[in-house]
Amino acid sequence: MRRINLFGKDGRLDAIAAAIRRSLRPVELSVLSEMNNPGLFEKSEGRLSIGNTDNLSTIEEFALRTNPDWAIIGPEEPLRAGVVDKLMELEISCIGPTRSLARLETSKSFTRELLEEYNIPGNPDYRIFKSLDGMESYLRRKGEFVVKPDGLTGGKGVQVFGEHIHSVEDALLYCKKLFEENPNRPVVIEEKLDGEEFTLQSFCDGRHVVDTIVVQDHKRAYDGDTGPNTGGMGSYSCEDHRLPFLSDDVIKEASKITSAVASALLDKCQQEYKGILYGGFMMTQGGLKLIEFNARFGDPEVMNVLPLLKTDFVDVCEAIINGTLDKISVEFEKKATVCKYVVPRGYPTQPEKEMRIDISDLPAPSDKLKIFYASVNKKPDGLYLTGSRAIALVGIGANLAEAEQIAEDAANRIKGPVRHRMDIGTQELIQKRINHMNHVFGKKHKLAVG
Ligand code: AMP
Ligand code: GLY
Repeated sequence: MRRINLFGKDGRLDAIAAAIRRSLRPVELSVLSEMNNPGLFEKSEGRLSIGNTDNLSTIEEFALRTNPDWAIIGPEEPLRAGVVDKLMELEISCIGPTRSLARLETSKSFTRELLEEYNIPGNPDYRIFKSLDGMESYLRRKGEFVVKPDGLTGGKGVQVFGEHIHSVEDALLYCKKLFEENPNRPVVIEEKLDGEEFTLQSFCDGRHVVDTIVVQDHKRAYDGDTGPNTGGMGSYSCEDHRLPFLSDDVIKEASKITSAVASALLDKCQQEYKGILYGGFMMTQGGLKLIEFNARFGDPEVMNVLPLLKTDFVDVCEAIINGTLDKISVEFEKKATVCKYVVPRGYPTQPEKEMRIDISDLPAPSDKLKIFYASVNKKPDGLYLTGSRAIALVGIGANLAEAEQIAEDAANRIKGPVRHRMDIGTQELIQKRINHMNHVFGKKHKLAVG
């Protein structure tokens, strides 16, 4: 019997727990979470403790009490807090990088410099600022730019010209505020890129990298890619493990960048990165560019890949821990997936909280429908919204149309002050993505549907 600890609170962790539960290995799962997530409660057979997963003494107490063979850290905040370093002190192996390696996500300047130092392609034109000196002339030269403070900012730190900031003066004011808040925090300013974004999540054991499937997330709150940015309203992946607007060569390039980054991290930090490398890429007219790396699975993107994993996930995790990812074959079902997040009305700016939702109309999860619980709290009288993304519905089908219909039908069955994006995974939205790429490339590189 293996004892496994899971740390986190969200839908991503519920998807990870589901993949562990599908394992043929006997497993005892214990979860430390910030709320009474019914998915995690069920999958851990009631071994769910409520506590702060960023707090090192809470983590230590929980790990000593549950005595795991190894642990998985779901979100980024515990990685930044040094939870992996703490667990390693206790001789507990982890799926998740140390604090130093997690700089790949927690410091935008670290990652840009890493690519540059190791001659890895993918950086846009960028400059790192530690004060306002020289910033104005750089911004004026760039014309359109993106401002990215170092550190985890919960999706609120990155400011894109034309969306959040509309002039050089706006940008200077924003950066002045950032330096006043924290004079030691560098700010990266980079050229604004145009193209379609996609995610490639890869397993890494420190020396070997194994890719999962490319996925596209949807950050905007409302249909038609309108409204404010969110943590991600839903995502899709295709049965051929490609995306309609990407060539195989581009996917290979993204994979090469990810592998090169894993080698660079080993050389630079002299530590093995054991966990997930999440590459957020954008295909642009100037070639493939790296938007960001994250040091954990994506939420929602994990929900598109783990349900399709044919290889036993516990075996994959143990190969990561043992450094033997090159010795196993990691396979995924050739199916399409569409994930739709049901979120509180008003999310993300003024979300409904503490309101009850009714999920009694939802069908039972099956091979075709996965239900992952995120920011919901189960109380004696029902399931309550807590203000963030609530429940993810993942349709799995022979093609996108089938997967989309399953997810859409399930999303409509949740009653209460909630909404979801009806357009994710639809042919109309996918055609819009293809049209966007055709526009970016001009007629020369016309892409066909499908
Ligand atoms: P990040 O936190 O780096 O993922 O940035 C958040 C979002 O800002 C990304 O998902 C992109 O949509 C956008 N973004 C980041 N960097 C750029 C860039 N250089 N050009 C255009 N958009 C960007
Ligand atoms: N879906 C974006 C993220 O997980 O960061």
